[in-house]
Order: sequence, then structure tokens, then C-alpha cells
Amino acid sequence: MARPYVFINVAATVDGKIDTRDRRGAAISSQADGDRVDRLRASADGVVVGHRTLHDEDPRLTVKSDSLIAERVARGEPPQPARIGIASRLSLRPDARFLSGPPARIILFVPSGQDRQTFPHPPVEVFEVGRGRVDLAAALAVLAGRGLRRVMVEGGGTLNFELLRLGLVDEVQLYLAPLIFGGACAPTLADGDGLARDAAVRLGAPEVESLPDGGIVLRYKVEQS
Ligand SMILES: NC(=O)c1ccc[n+]([C@@H]2O[C@H](COP(=O)([O-])OP(=O)(O)OC[C@H]3O[C@@H](n4cnc5c(N)ncnc54)[C@H](OP(=O)(O)O)[C@@H]3O)[C@@H](O)[C@H]2O)c1
Repeated sequence: MARPYVFINVAATVDGKIDTRDRRGAAISSQADGDRVDRLRASADGVVVGHRTLHDEDPRLTVKSDSLIAERVARGEPPQPARIGIASRLSLRPDARFLSGPPARIILFVPSGQDRQTFPHPPVEVFEVGRGRVDLAAALAVLAGRGLRRVMVEGGGTLNFELLRLGLVDEVQLYLAPLIFGGACAPTLADGDGLARDAAVRLGAPEVESLPDGGIVLRYKVEQS
């Protein structure tokens, strides 16, 4: 199935955690990293998140810089990338920034068999793909069919893992903050059920960039098996 170029971006601590054990969206990024993430979002046609991140962290998923927005428009793109959620049922918190942020295409993927009568958010394009779970390959094919060529995945660990396990990720970018959170239950870049050693997702040699705040940006291409 045709799909967009897919890249994951996360901010993690040195011990690999993308949040504290409290799972309240702890700040990990620095200002310099925030600028990098804004540029990455501005390069994407859509930004994808899992439902728990959508619900608990309530991210904006928008490009903030006026000059980056102007560059998108000059390239003939919409000012903001599409905001895309993956969920197991048709339900969103009514106050979600996902819904109320600056105008953008808003897309929600859910498994088949949802009751659309009870979903009061008309601007959201809903696609039912897969039985029981969203078929992520089919969801990406839907995005490709609607002209999205570059998609940024912004977590969380469950969604990242499923996409990696299915071989649907081309690149992983990681801001490694000089912090340690610890906590066996704190989320990581890739959670889910985990993989056996011989099924590990293999990455190429990283591009490494040191930021003045002590953080490191690592950019890996995923080796397709
Ligand atoms: N530091 C960072 O860069 C960063 C970025 C993002 C998130 N985070 C953190 O990550 C944590 C959240 O991660 P998480 O692993 O708990 O959740 P998540 O990956 O954000 O969302 C998982 C949920 O997404 C839905 N989902 C994912 N794949 C699906 C599929 N194939 N079919 C149907 N539904 C699917 C399900 O939602 P439902 O069953 O609920 O509908 C599932 O429970 C939070 O602590 C957040 O702050 C950190």
C-alpha cells in the first residue's frame, strides 16, 4: 500500500523516558529543541498522535512560528499541517486543542462500527479502518490518497511501537535531554508488548547534533527489513 514518508519525533530523557511515571506530559524539550520541532512540524503535511496523548497531554500540534507558516503558504501548502488522531473509539474531549486550534484539516481514525450520530464534532473527518483496532497501514494509505506525503508522528509510546513493529516508519528523531526520570512504568519511545531481540527494529548510523542546552538531537533512518 502506498503511504507517506513517516517520521517519529520524541523528546526523551537519558534513561529513555518520554514522560514521568505520572504521565502528565512533563516538559522535556528545551527552547532550542522547541524551535527544531516547530521546523519539523512545518515540514509535515500532517501530525499524528495516539488517543492517550491527545486526551491526557492535550497537545496543540501546530506550527507556531509566523515565518514558518508564511513559508508553508508560499509553497502552496495550508498554513497548518493536518491534525490526525488514532483512537479505538469515536470520542474526543470536547475542550481538546486538537479541535479548537488554528484552522487545519482534522482527521480521526477509528476501527469500524462506530456510532457517528453521537459524535458532535462536524469539522473532524472520521475514517473507520480496521476491525477492533485501527489498521495503521490502511490509515496511512488513506492519508497518501488524500495527498499527504510527509507525516510526523508525535507519540506516544504505544502508537510509536505499533508503527515501528509494522515497518511503517522511515525515520526517528530524538531529542535526548540531560535528565533522568527513572520509573519502570514511565513511558518510553516505544512501549507496547516489545520485540524479541531478533525482531528488533534496526536503525542506521545517526546524525548527531549537540544543542547549547546540553541536549543531543539524534536522527536515525529506519533500516527496512
Ligand atoms: N516526550 C514526548 O516526545 C512525548 C510525545 C507524545 C507523548 N508523550 C507521552 O506519552 C504518554 C502517552 O503514551 P501512551 O503510550 O500511553 O499512549 P499513545 O500512544 O499516545 O496512545 C495510545 C492510544 O492510542 C490509541 N491507539 C493507538 N494505536 C491504535 C490502533 N492501532 N487502533 C486503535 N487505537 C489505537 C488507543 O487509544 P484508546 O484505546 O484510548 O482509544 C491507545 O490506547 C504520555 O505520558 C505523553 O505525555 C511524550
